Amino acid sequence: MKVLVTGGAGFIGANFVRQTVAERPDAHVTVLDKVTYAGNPASIAGLERVDLVVGDVADAEVTDALVAASDVVVHFAAESHNDNSLRDPSPFVRTNLVGTFTLLEAVRKHGVRYHHISTDEVYGDLELDDPAKFTEATPYNPSSPYSSTKAGSDLLVRAWVRSFGVAATISNCSNNYGPYQHIEKFIPRQITNLIDGVKPKLYGAGANVRDWIHVRDHNTAVWTIIEKGRMGETYLIGADGEKNNREVVELVLELMGHDPHDYEHVADRPGHDLRYAIDNTRLREELGWEPQFPDFRAGLADTIAWYRANEAWWRPQKAAVEAKYAAQGQ
Ligand code: NAD
Ligand code: TYD
Repeated sequence: MKVLVTGGAGFIGANFVRQTVAERPDAHVTVLDKVTYAGNPASIAGLERVDLVVGDVADAEVTDALVAASDVVVHFAAESHNDNSLRDPSPFVRTNLVGTFTLLEAVRKHGVRYHHISTDEVYGDLELDDPAKFTEATPYNPSSPYSSTKAGSDLLVRAWVRSFGVAATISNCSNNYGPYQHIEKFIPRQITNLIDGVKPKLYGAGANVRDWIHVRDHNTAVWTIIEKGRMGETYLIGADGEKNNREVVELVLELMGHDPHDYEHVADRPGHDLRYAIDNTRLREELGWEPQFPDFRAGLADTIAWYRANEAWWRPQKAAVEAKYAAQGQ
């Protein structure tokens, strides 16, 4: 099977590529990745049956030829960080919207199966005490340039299914953690701060809730949807991992041998979504998927060990990432 993975040099995409070649001897993977600041070819270096093409998903010439040669396209490539989208939304519009449009035109032309990777952030946020969680029927209500461009890309997919009969599925997943995540993101930022003797930085009071899932569980769910999902359907991916940011920071501190309360409060994110939570009933009951790594404490300990063992992977970016945050009081 020839699998085209866009964004396969990024966090979730690289884990997807590694899992795919390890678990599927019949798979050959072509990665299309622009290798932006967030992409790192080292994350997929040395793998057998994997080729990397450095290029832009919004470049129709590159995309068309690669799609034509594939059996399935899994579209991870995106500008993915909310804080960056508040500083400069323009690459989010181009990559997330124009990039998805460009891929959809290519899969339409060549009749190739397409899976669209999206986020639960398209649904906006929930109150802390809301008994409801997000379901596939929740109305879209995105808050940031990041989540609104992801929402727009999902709607393009739905329209291309309805209007042109494109064979596509969509998944909206909650917050991922695990190895190879860029150190601008919450968990790896705090782990690498502590390695550097710097206190973890909590936005505002730290009451915001995220529904954490191990990246491996996200990716097994993606394969389950590719193989068993109904065409045109959306599936929510989550593993019942709700935690507020304060709890996460305290656990990172504890697992790294520090006083759990030794963190700093910094400036809050404008428009900061309060809570995300996924109801994964459809994925479990219709497709039979179950998470294999539901133990957050164990997964976090493994992730900390990975960042300790792989300093060469993240060190070159640390100073620049922290300088950007410092400039905005974070
Ligand atoms: P990431 O920022 O780590 O990686 C994104 C990758 O896309 C990078 O390798 C980058 O070089 C590449 N890329 C960016 N623009 C490109 C372009 N124009 N053409 C080709 N490649 C380009 O992101 P991630 O955290 O791995 O997220 C991957 C996908 O999963 C995104 O679609 C994101 O919206 C979605 N998602 C992420 C999370 C999460 O917690 N990280 C949760 C749910 C959904
Ligand atoms: P992030 O990893 O940016 O993911 P998202 O915005 O997609 O949820 O942030 C996760 C949560 O952590 C979010 O509520 C913002 C918060 N946060 C901090 O408290 N401190 C930090 O240094 C960062 C980067 C994020």
